Amino acid sequence: MDSDVRTVRVAVVGATGYSGAELTVLLARHRQAEISSLFSSEGGKSAPFSRLHPALAARSGPGVRPFRLEALLESAPDAVFLATPHETSAELAPNLLERGMSVIDISAAFRLKNPAVFEAAYGFAHPAPQLLTEAVYGLTEWSGDRLLGARLVANPGCYPTSVLLALKPILDLLAPAIPVVCDSKSGTSGAGKKADLAFSFSELSENHKAYGVSGHRHEPEMLQELGLAPGTPFSFVPHLLPIVRGMLSTIHVSFAAPQTAEDLFSRFAAAYAGSPFVSVRPHGEMPDVRSVANTPNAAIGFCLRDGGRRAVLVSVIDNLLKGAASQAVQNFNRVFGFPETEGLE
Ligand SMILES: NC(=O)c1ccc[n+]([C@@H]2O[C@H](COP(=O)([O-])OP(=O)(O)OC[C@H]3O[C@@H](n4cnc5c(N)ncnc54)[C@H](OP(=O)(O)O)[C@@H]3O)[C@@H](O)[C@H]2O)c1
Repeated sequence: MDSDVRTVRVAVVGATGYSGAELTVLLARHRQAEISSLFSSEGGKSAPFSRLHPALAARSGPGVRPFRLEALLESAPDAVFLATPHETSAELAPNLLERGMSVIDISAAFRLKNPAVFEAAYGFAHPAPQLLTEAVYGLTEWSGDRLLGARLVANPGCYPTSVLLALKPILDLLAPAIPVVCDSKSGTSGAGKKADLAFSFSELSENHKAYGVSGHRHEPEMLQELGLAPGTPFSFVPHLLPIVRGMLSTIHVSFAAPQTAEDLFSRFAAAYAGSPFVSVRPHGEMPDVRSVANTPNAAIGFCLRDGGRRAVLVSVIDNLLKGAASQAVQNFNRVFGFPETEGLE
Protein backbone atom coordinates (compact mmCIF):
# COMPACT_ATOMS: atom_id res chain seq x y z
CA MET A 1 0.00 0.00 0.00
CA ASP A 2 1.25 3.52 -0.85
CA SER A 3 2.69 4.93 2.38
CA ASP A 4 1.45 8.43 1.44
CA VAL A 5 -2.16 7.26 1.40
CA ARG A 6 -4.03 7.67 4.71
CA THR A 7 -5.53 4.34 5.71
CA VAL A 8 -8.25 3.45 8.18
CA ARG A 9 -8.20 0.07 9.89
CA VAL A 10 -11.54 -1.66 9.51
CA ALA A 11 -13.17 -4.77 10.95
CA VAL A 12 -16.27 -6.55 9.67
CA VAL A 13 -18.52 -8.50 12.02
CA GLY A 14 -20.81 -10.73 9.95
CA ALA A 15 -18.29 -11.22 7.13
CA THR A 16 -19.72 -14.68 6.46
CA GLY A 17 -23.22 -13.33 5.76
CA TYR A 18 -24.55 -12.22 2.38
CA SER A 19 -24.10 -8.49 2.87
CA GLY A 20 -20.97 -8.81 5.03
CA ALA A 21 -19.24 -10.88 2.34
CA GLU A 22 -20.02 -8.26 -0.33
CA LEU A 23 -18.75 -5.60 2.03
CA THR A 24 -15.52 -7.48 2.70
CA VAL A 25 -14.80 -7.72 -1.03
CA LEU A 26 -15.36 -3.98 -1.48
CA LEU A 27 -13.15 -3.14 1.51
CA ALA A 28 -10.40 -5.47 0.29
CA ARG A 29 -9.99 -3.35 -2.84
CA HIS A 30 -10.46 0.00 -1.07
CA ARG A 31 -7.13 1.84 -1.20
CA GLN A 32 -7.71 3.64 2.08
CA ALA A 33 -9.10 0.76 4.12
CA GLU A 34 -6.94 -1.86 5.75
CA ILE A 35 -8.84 -4.91 6.96
CA SER A 36 -7.79 -5.60 10.55
CA SER A 37 -10.15 -8.49 11.25
CA LEU A 38 -13.17 -10.39 9.93
CA PHE A 39 -15.67 -12.28 12.04
CA SER A 40 -18.50 -14.76 11.74
CA SER A 41 -20.84 -15.44 14.66
CA GLU A 42 -19.42 -16.86 17.88
CA GLY A 43 -20.34 -20.34 16.69
CA GLY A 44 -18.73 -19.90 13.26
CA LYS A 45 -15.57 -21.56 11.98
CA SER A 46 -12.12 -20.09 11.28
CA ALA A 47 -11.35 -20.13 7.55
CA PRO A 48 -9.77 -17.98 4.85
CA PHE A 49 -12.37 -15.64 3.38
CA SER A 50 -11.60 -17.00 -0.11
CA ARG A 51 -12.57 -20.50 0.99
CA LEU A 52 -15.88 -19.30 2.44
CA HIS A 53 -16.69 -17.17 -0.59
CA PRO A 54 -14.71 -18.55 -3.56
CA ALA A 55 -17.00 -16.82 -6.06
CA LEU A 56 -16.33 -13.44 -4.49
CA ALA A 57 -12.63 -13.69 -3.66
CA ALA A 58 -10.35 -15.63 -5.96
CA ARG A 59 -7.17 -14.76 -4.09
CA SER A 60 -6.54 -15.88 -0.56
CA GLY A 61 -7.55 -13.01 1.68
CA PRO A 62 -7.72 -12.35 5.38
CA GLY A 63 -9.00 -15.09 7.66
CA VAL A 64 -12.47 -15.07 9.16
CA ARG A 65 -12.67 -15.96 12.85
CA PRO A 66 -15.50 -16.79 15.23
CA PHE A 67 -16.55 -13.55 16.89
CA ARG A 68 -14.91 -12.66 20.21
CA LEU A 69 -15.05 -9.09 21.46
CA GLU A 70 -11.47 -9.38 22.81
CA ALA A 71 -10.19 -10.50 19.39
CA LEU A 72 -11.96 -7.59 17.72
CA LEU A 73 -10.45 -5.12 20.20
CA GLU A 74 -6.98 -6.66 19.83
CA SER A 75 -7.11 -6.09 16.08
CA ALA A 76 -7.44 -2.34 16.90
CA PRO A 77 -9.76 -1.17 14.13
CA ASP A 78 -10.63 2.51 13.73
CA ALA A 79 -14.00 1.60 12.24
CA VAL A 80 -16.21 -1.47 12.61
CA PHE A 81 -18.85 -2.54 10.11
CA LEU A 82 -21.67 -4.55 11.64
CA ALA A 83 -23.40 -6.81 9.11
CA THR A 84 -25.17 -8.68 11.88
CA PRO A 85 -28.69 -9.28 13.19
CA HIS A 86 -30.37 -6.19 14.70
CA GLU A 87 -30.07 -7.54 18.27
CA THR A 88 -26.32 -8.16 17.88
CA SER A 89 -25.66 -4.70 16.46
CA ALA A 90 -27.74 -3.02 19.16
CA GLU A 91 -25.69 -4.74 21.90
CA LEU A 92 -22.28 -4.42 20.27
CA ALA A 93 -22.26 -0.87 18.92
CA PRO A 94 -22.32 0.96 22.29
CA ASN A 95 -19.36 -1.12 23.45
CA LEU A 96 -17.33 -0.20 20.38
CA LEU A 97 -18.27 3.48 20.50
CA GLU A 98 -17.15 3.66 24.14
CA ARG A 99 -13.73 2.45 23.01
CA GLY A 100 -13.45 5.23 20.44
CA MET A 101 -14.25 3.26 17.30
CA SER A 102 -16.62 4.42 14.57
CA VAL A 103 -19.47 2.07 13.76
CA ILE A 104 -21.26 1.62 10.46
CA ASP A 105 -24.22 -0.64 11.11
CA ILE A 106 -25.99 -2.40 8.26
CA SER A 107 -28.75 -3.76 10.50
CA ALA A 108 -31.85 -1.80 11.52
CA ALA A 109 -30.64 -1.33 15.12
CA PHE A 110 -30.07 2.44 14.86
CA ARG A 111 -32.29 3.52 11.98
CA LEU A 112 -35.41 4.53 13.90
CA LYS A 113 -35.24 7.63 16.11
CA ASN A 114 -38.16 6.81 18.37
CA PRO A 115 -37.48 3.91 20.84
CA ALA A 116 -41.20 3.05 21.07
CA VAL A 117 -41.50 2.82 17.29
CA PHE A 118 -38.34 0.69 17.27
CA GLU A 119 -39.72 -1.70 19.88
CA ALA A 120 -43.04 -2.03 18.07
CA ALA A 121 -41.29 -2.78 14.76
CA TYR A 122 -38.47 -5.05 15.98
CA GLY A 123 -40.03 -6.70 19.00
CA PHE A 124 -37.44 -5.84 21.65
CA ALA A 125 -36.66 -2.82 23.80
CA HIS A 126 -33.61 -1.00 22.48
CA PRO A 127 -30.65 -1.54 24.84
CA ALA A 128 -29.08 1.85 23.98
CA PRO A 129 -31.94 4.24 23.10
CA GLN A 130 -29.71 7.24 23.84
CA LEU A 131 -27.78 6.45 20.65
CA LEU A 132 -30.83 6.58 18.38
CA THR A 133 -30.79 10.36 18.12
CA GLU A 134 -27.03 10.44 17.55
CA ALA A 135 -26.95 7.84 14.76
CA VAL A 136 -26.73 9.39 11.29
CA TYR A 137 -29.18 7.79 8.87
CA GLY A 138 -26.91 6.97 5.96
CA LEU A 139 -28.97 7.38 2.83
CA THR A 140 -25.78 8.78 1.40
CA GLU A 141 -27.21 11.09 -1.25
CA TRP A 142 -29.48 12.77 1.31
CA SER A 143 -27.11 12.89 4.27
CA GLY A 144 -25.47 16.22 3.43
CA ASP A 145 -22.43 16.83 5.62
CA ARG A 146 -23.85 14.90 8.59
CA LEU A 147 -21.75 11.85 7.78
CA LEU A 148 -18.38 13.59 7.97
CA GLY A 149 -16.82 12.54 11.27
CA ALA A 150 -19.96 10.64 12.41
CA ARG A 151 -19.35 8.05 15.16
CA LEU A 152 -22.38 5.93 14.37
CA VAL A 153 -23.96 5.44 10.96
CA ALA A 154 -27.26 3.60 10.50
CA ASN A 155 -27.18 2.20 7.00
CA PRO A 156 -30.71 2.30 5.52
CA GLY A 157 -32.75 -0.79 4.76
CA CYS A 158 -32.80 -2.06 1.20
CA TYR A 159 -36.52 -1.39 0.59
CA PRO A 160 -36.30 2.09 2.13
CA THR A 161 -33.27 2.90 -0.04
CA SER A 162 -35.17 2.07 -3.23
CA VAL A 163 -38.33 3.94 -2.14
CA LEU A 164 -36.69 7.00 -0.57
CA LEU A 165 -34.37 7.67 -3.51
CA ALA A 166 -37.41 7.93 -5.79
CA LEU A 167 -39.73 9.86 -3.46
CA LYS A 168 -37.48 12.40 -1.76
CA PRO A 169 -36.91 14.66 -4.78
CA ILE A 170 -40.66 15.16 -5.35
CA LEU A 171 -42.03 14.96 -1.82
CA ASP A 172 -43.25 18.56 -1.67
CA LEU A 173 -45.25 18.07 -4.88
CA LEU A 174 -47.44 15.26 -3.54
CA ALA A 175 -51.16 15.60 -2.78
CA PRO A 176 -51.26 15.29 1.03
CA ALA A 177 -54.48 13.25 1.40
CA ILE A 178 -53.86 10.67 -1.34
CA PRO A 179 -51.83 7.65 -0.23
CA VAL A 180 -48.46 6.92 -1.79
CA VAL A 181 -48.48 3.25 -2.84
CA CYS A 182 -45.14 1.42 -2.90
CA ASP A 183 -45.18 -1.99 -4.53
CA SER A 184 -41.68 -3.36 -3.90
CA LYS A 185 -40.07 -6.60 -5.01
CA SER A 186 -36.89 -8.18 -3.75
CA GLY A 187 -34.61 -11.05 -4.63
CA THR A 188 -34.33 -13.73 -1.95
CA SER A 189 -30.87 -12.68 -0.68
CA GLY A 190 -32.70 -9.80 1.03
CA ALA A 191 -33.56 -12.21 3.83
CA GLY A 192 -29.96 -13.28 4.43
CA LYS A 193 -28.56 -16.77 4.34
CA LYS A 194 -30.51 -18.39 7.17
CA ALA A 195 -32.58 -21.43 6.30
CA ASP A 196 -36.31 -20.76 6.17
CA LEU A 197 -38.97 -22.83 4.39
CA ALA A 198 -40.62 -19.68 2.99
CA PHE A 199 -37.36 -18.84 1.21
CA SER A 200 -36.54 -22.33 -0.02
CA PHE A 201 -36.07 -23.03 -3.74
CA SER A 202 -39.26 -25.09 -4.00
CA GLU A 203 -41.35 -22.35 -2.44
CA LEU A 204 -39.97 -19.49 -4.51
CA SER A 205 -38.94 -20.91 -7.86
CA GLU A 206 -41.56 -20.11 -10.55
CA ASN A 207 -43.49 -18.27 -7.87
CA HIS A 208 -44.09 -14.69 -6.77
CA LYS A 209 -45.68 -13.63 -3.51
CA ALA A 210 -46.52 -10.71 -1.29
CA TYR A 211 -45.61 -10.71 2.41
CA GLY A 212 -45.85 -8.29 5.35
CA VAL A 213 -49.00 -6.85 3.80
CA SER A 214 -50.52 -5.73 7.10
CA GLY A 215 -47.40 -3.72 7.96
CA HIS A 216 -43.71 -4.32 7.30
CA ARG A 217 -41.00 -3.05 9.65
CA HIS A 218 -39.48 -0.96 6.87
CA GLU A 219 -42.61 1.19 6.66
CA PRO A 220 -41.91 3.25 9.83
CA GLU A 221 -38.36 3.80 8.53
CA MET A 222 -39.75 5.20 5.28
CA LEU A 223 -42.28 7.43 7.09
CA GLN A 224 -39.56 8.75 9.40
CA GLU A 225 -37.21 9.61 6.56
CA LEU A 226 -39.99 11.18 4.50
CA GLY A 227 -40.97 13.30 7.52
CA LEU A 228 -44.48 11.79 7.55
CA ALA A 229 -46.25 11.15 10.85
CA PRO A 230 -47.25 7.56 11.67
CA GLY A 231 -50.79 7.12 10.35
CA THR A 232 -50.19 9.23 7.22
CA PRO A 233 -51.87 7.49 4.24
CA PHE A 234 -49.03 5.38 2.89
CA SER A 235 -48.95 1.82 1.63
CA PHE A 236 -45.83 -0.32 1.30
CA VAL A 237 -46.13 -3.97 0.28
CA PRO A 238 -43.01 -6.08 -0.25
CA HIS A 239 -42.92 -9.09 -2.58
CA LEU A 240 -40.45 -11.89 -3.17
CA LEU A 241 -39.12 -12.46 -6.65
CA PRO A 242 -37.66 -15.81 -7.75
CA ILE A 243 -34.24 -14.21 -8.28
CA VAL A 244 -31.30 -14.06 -5.87
CA ARG A 245 -30.40 -10.38 -5.92
CA GLY A 246 -31.95 -7.11 -7.01
CA MET A 247 -34.90 -5.01 -5.96
CA LEU A 248 -37.53 -3.02 -7.85
CA SER A 249 -40.02 -0.60 -6.33
CA THR A 250 -42.99 0.63 -8.35
CA ILE A 251 -44.36 3.72 -6.60
CA HIS A 252 -47.70 5.35 -7.40
CA VAL A 253 -48.00 9.04 -6.48
CA SER A 254 -50.58 11.81 -6.95
CA PHE A 255 -49.64 15.46 -7.20
CA ALA A 256 -51.26 18.51 -5.61
CA ALA A 257 -51.02 20.21 -9.05
CA PRO A 258 -50.39 18.71 -12.52
CA GLN A 259 -46.73 18.22 -13.44
CA THR A 260 -44.92 18.17 -16.75
CA ALA A 261 -42.34 15.57 -17.76
CA GLU A 262 -39.72 18.32 -18.10
CA ASP A 263 -40.33 19.68 -14.60
CA LEU A 264 -40.24 16.25 -13.01
CA PHE A 265 -37.09 15.22 -14.84
CA SER A 266 -35.43 18.49 -13.76
CA ARG A 267 -36.36 17.73 -10.15
CA PHE A 268 -34.74 14.30 -10.24
CA ALA A 269 -31.74 15.45 -12.26
CA ALA A 270 -31.07 18.36 -9.85
CA ALA A 271 -31.42 16.08 -6.81
CA TYR A 272 -28.85 13.62 -8.14
CA ALA A 273 -26.58 15.93 -10.15
CA GLY A 274 -23.57 15.28 -7.92
CA SER A 275 -24.36 11.64 -7.17
CA PRO A 276 -22.12 9.13 -8.91
CA PHE A 277 -24.37 6.15 -8.17
CA VAL A 278 -27.89 7.40 -8.94
CA SER A 279 -29.10 7.84 -12.51
CA VAL A 280 -32.43 9.20 -13.72
CA ARG A 281 -34.04 7.90 -16.89
CA PRO A 282 -35.88 10.11 -19.39
CA HIS A 283 -39.67 10.26 -19.07
CA GLY A 284 -41.30 6.90 -19.83
CA GLU A 285 -38.07 4.87 -19.77
CA MET A 286 -38.16 2.38 -16.91
CA PRO A 287 -35.03 0.78 -15.44
CA ASP A 288 -35.00 -2.96 -14.76
CA VAL A 289 -33.28 -5.03 -12.10
CA ARG A 290 -30.64 -6.37 -14.44
CA SER A 291 -29.36 -2.87 -15.17
CA VAL A 292 -28.18 -2.45 -11.56
CA ALA A 293 -27.64 -6.02 -10.25
CA ASN A 294 -24.04 -6.55 -9.09
CA THR A 295 -23.38 -2.80 -9.16
CA PRO A 296 -23.49 -0.03 -6.52
CA ASN A 297 -25.93 1.90 -8.71
CA ALA A 298 -29.54 2.96 -8.34
CA ALA A 299 -31.71 3.95 -11.30
CA ILE A 300 -35.00 5.84 -11.29
CA GLY A 301 -37.63 6.08 -14.01
CA PHE A 302 -40.96 7.90 -14.07
CA CYS A 303 -44.06 8.12 -16.21
CA LEU A 304 -46.81 10.74 -15.90
CA ARG A 305 -50.47 9.68 -15.99
CA ASP A 306 -53.83 11.50 -16.01
CA GLY A 307 -52.51 14.69 -17.58
CA GLY A 308 -49.70 14.99 -15.03
CA ARG A 309 -51.91 14.60 -11.95
CA ARG A 310 -50.32 11.22 -11.13
CA ALA A 311 -47.03 9.47 -11.80
CA VAL A 312 -45.64 5.97 -11.62
CA LEU A 313 -42.02 5.83 -10.42
CA VAL A 314 -39.76 2.82 -10.79
CA SER A 315 -36.63 2.58 -8.65
CA VAL A 316 -34.10 -0.27 -8.85
CA ILE A 317 -31.08 -1.23 -6.76
CA ASP A 318 -29.05 -4.31 -5.89
CA ASN A 319 -30.26 -5.09 -2.36
CA LEU A 320 -26.85 -6.41 -1.29
CA LEU A 321 -24.93 -3.41 -2.68
CA LYS A 322 -26.76 -0.05 -2.78
CA GLY A 323 -29.23 -1.65 -0.36
CA ALA A 324 -26.45 -2.70 2.04
CA ALA A 325 -22.69 -3.12 1.37
CA SER A 326 -21.82 -0.49 -1.24
CA GLN A 327 -23.93 2.14 0.51
CA ALA A 328 -22.02 1.27 3.71
CA VAL A 329 -18.77 1.92 1.83
CA GLN A 330 -20.16 5.19 0.41
CA ASN A 331 -20.96 6.17 4.01
CA PHE A 332 -17.52 5.07 5.23
CA ASN A 333 -15.99 7.28 2.54
CA ARG A 334 -18.10 10.24 3.65
CA VAL A 335 -17.30 9.67 7.35
CA PHE A 336 -13.56 9.69 6.72
CA GLY A 337 -13.55 12.32 3.97
CA PHE A 338 -12.50 9.95 1.17
CA PRO A 339 -13.79 10.29 -2.40
CA GLU A 340 -17.32 8.83 -2.46
CA THR A 341 -16.45 6.39 -5.24
CA GLU A 342 -13.35 4.91 -3.55
CA GLY A 343 -13.57 1.10 -3.49
CA LEU A 344 -16.72 1.16 -5.61
CA GLU A 345 -15.52 1.73 -9.17
N1 LIG B 1 -29.50 -9.14 2.83
C1 LIG B 1 -29.82 -7.90 2.49
O1 LIG B 1 -30.17 -7.61 1.32
C2 LIG B 1 -29.74 -6.80 3.52
C3 LIG B 1 -29.93 -5.49 3.07
C4 LIG B 1 -29.88 -4.44 4.01
C5 LIG B 1 -29.66 -4.73 5.33
N2 LIG B 1 -29.49 -6.02 5.74
C6 LIG B 1 -29.24 -6.26 7.17
O2 LIG B 1 -27.86 -6.60 7.31
C7 LIG B 1 -27.69 -7.54 8.39
C8 LIG B 1 -27.02 -8.78 7.83
O3 LIG B 1 -27.88 -9.30 6.83
P1 LIG B 1 -27.47 -10.51 5.88
O4 LIG B 1 -28.58 -10.66 4.93
O5 LIG B 1 -26.08 -10.33 5.38
O6 LIG B 1 -27.52 -11.70 6.95
P2 LIG B 1 -26.94 -13.18 6.91
O7 LIG B 1 -26.60 -13.57 5.52
O8 LIG B 1 -27.89 -14.02 7.66
O9 LIG B 1 -25.58 -13.03 7.74
C9 LIG B 1 -25.58 -12.68 9.11
C10 LIG B 1 -24.14 -12.56 9.57
O10 LIG B 1 -24.13 -12.19 10.95
C11 LIG B 1 -23.34 -13.17 11.69
N3 LIG B 1 -23.91 -13.29 13.02
C12 LIG B 1 -25.10 -13.85 13.38
N4 LIG B 1 -25.28 -13.77 14.71
C13 LIG B 1 -24.15 -13.17 15.22
C14 LIG B 1 -23.72 -12.83 16.52
N5 LIG B 1 -24.48 -13.05 17.60
N6 LIG B 1 -22.49 -12.23 16.66
C15 LIG B 1 -21.71 -11.99 15.61
N7 LIG B 1 -22.07 -12.30 14.33
C16 LIG B 1 -23.28 -12.87 14.14
C17 LIG B 1 -23.47 -14.45 10.85
O11 LIG B 1 -22.41 -15.35 11.16
P3 LIG B 1 -22.49 -16.94 10.81
O12 LIG B 1 -22.05 -17.06 9.38
O13 LIG B 1 -21.53 -17.56 11.76
O14 LIG B 1 -23.92 -17.35 11.04
C18 LIG B 1 -23.35 -13.87 9.45
O15 LIG B 1 -22.01 -13.55 9.15
C19 LIG B 1 -29.10 -7.82 8.94
O16 LIG B 1 -29.32 -7.02 10.07
C20 LIG B 1 -30.02 -7.40 7.78
O17 LIG B 1 -31.29 -6.99 8.22
C21 LIG B 1 -29.51 -7.06 4.85
